[in-house]
Amino acid sequence: MRDPKIGEMLVQPDQLKHRVRELGAEISRDYAERDLLLVGVLKGAVFFLADLMRQIDIPCEVDFMAVASYGSATDSSGVVRILKDLDRPIEDRDVLIVEDIVDSGLTLQYLLRNLGARDPRSLEVCSLLTKPERRKVELPIRYTGFEIPHRFAIGYGLDSGERYRNLPYVAALAD
Ligand code: IMP
Ligand code: MG
Repeated sequence: MRDPKIGEMLVQPDQLKHRVRELGAEISRDYAERDLLLVGVLKGAVFFLADLMRQIDIPCEVDFMAVASYGSATDSSGVVRILKDLDRPIEDRDVLIVEDIVDSGLTLQYLLRNLGARDPRSLEVCSLLTKPERRKVELPIRYTGFEIPHRFAIGYGLDSGERYRNLPYVAALAD
């Protein structure tokens, strides 16, 4: 796709593939004999989750949540609204939240509190990307794909105004 808004490459397709395979193997080991439920956060995490789940070789299920964070286009406020809730209860289940990116951490902080209140047996996070410099709240992220610098990232599920989710790599949005 040729587009002047697609800037510097941050994570290449083969790096994504390799790391997703590693994460799948690690999760399969950690959750063997457990009751793994992947909770994908719509829409950005869908692409990562679909690839990750196919690298997990133990029984597992998937459910989705959609949340909107009030704030500007590039800064979330931490005030989160649930647009779509999980289809089923998570009580006593081993829940792994799958996120595309943790930026300030405010959205995830809300999700951890909200899902934690439903009494899962365990609750952990797997995020494809993280921008540590931007973090406003410290959160336990059990599995991380890649740390990236503070650039607005697009591709492999990440959007700018709903575009670019289909890129098979992660790039910076050109300024
Ligand atoms: P946080 O609450 O600041 O951690 O932001 C979390 C959400 O903002 C993510 O789940 C993304 O949907 C979105 N977001 C944050 N940074 C980026 C980015 O660089 N590119 C695309 N979306 C982003
Ligand atoms: Mg998101």
